[in-house]
Amino acid sequence: MIPPLVLGGLRVAPAVWMAPMAGVTDSPFRRVLRRLGCPAVVTEMISAEGLLRAQRPTRALLAFDPEERPLFAQLFGREPARLAAAAEQVVALGFDGIDLNMGCPVPKIVRQGSGAALMRDPGRAEAIVRAVRKVVACPLTAKIRAGWSADEVNALEVAERLQDAGADAVALHARTRAQGYAGRADWALIGRLVARLRIPVLGNGDLHTPEDGERMRAETGCAGLMIGRGALGNPWLPRALGQLGAPGAPAYPPPARERHEVFCTHLGLMLAWVGSERHAVPPMRKHLIWYSRGLRGATELRRSLGRMSTAAELEAAFARLVGLPETENHGPEHTRS
Ligand SMILES: Cc1cc2nc3c(=O)[nH]c(=O)nc-3n(C[C@H](O)[C@H](O)[C@H](O)COP(=O)(O)O)c2cc1C
Repeated sequence: MIPPLVLGGLRVAPAVWMAPMAGVTDSPFRRVLRRLGCPAVVTEMISAEGLLRAQRPTRALLAFDPEERPLFAQLFGREPARLAAAAEQVVALGFDGIDLNMGCPVPKIVRQGSGAALMRDPGRAEAIVRAVRKVVACPLTAKIRAGWSADEVNALEVAERLQDAGADAVALHARTRAQGYAGRADWALIGRLVARLRIPVLGNGDLHTPEDGERMRAETGCAGLMIGRGALGNPWLPRALGQLGAPGAPAYPPPARERHEVFCTHLGLMLAWVGSERHAVPPMRKHLIWYSRGLRGATELRRSLGRMSTAAELEAAFARLVGLPETENHGPEHTRS
């Protein structure tokens, strides 16, 4: 069992977050996660500039359903005053907390001085937290990396400055910017950060099974866990990881029938969210690849996905894969197309 964590008055129980993931943790997926017991979720990264200029794609990223709460908005940017102004708007929209992106490795983002570029500019990172802290009372976290590269591992120094600037917690993705998403996350660094800070640390990187969560907590002493790729096609993981060993915890991994039901629910939520099959099918092809990972026939399914253009085809393909009769493959919310 992972114990709860109270951050700025918000109780997250157990202390398990789904990590922010651009192109993945949109509203439909967050709703699936919350319905399956994920204790807290975060938006995709959202541009503070886009928000302040009310750009249409950014506005879409800010929309959410109340069932997603507790919900953090993740902001990225480089100007402290602009991030503070964006943070005020986010709070007014009803988000429960704010996470500041200091880890995105994408060249377009770091070239602007945002994301992981802030690991090389600790003064600016600190000024951002200080400016945002001044205007919001809600839980405020920063998600950082180990550092820029193996030669520049400075998470401890950066995080300490963020703590002094008023962050309520720091989430550490224990890889450097140079690593991107490859190689193993350095959990020992998470442990060193825990020892260094007064505020809670959320450990992130390589959590793929419920047992991984227990192991990360035992090895690092971190107060909370943040799950990334392990929950793709596997939205049951956050609850299973939080409740490992608890009496009455639901079976993990879930049976084939439940995998199919949840996929159908996800598909239905996506259809309702984007309003058309044309827009819902492309992202759901990607999710279907994840949901089918490890199942016999998944490779053939992946090959045939490009030919599928309707929600019914996706549902039927997954039903065949999990061995269900195709007449059952209509999720309760799959009404709009
Ligand atoms: C497709 C993808 C999108 C991501 N988008 C974001 C993002 O928007 N903000 C962020 O802070 N991290 C983002 N990340 C990083 C994850 O939040 C997480 O830190 C990383 O995947 C490491 O955890 P893992 O090893 O458990 O996957 C992204 C990762 C992936 C694979």
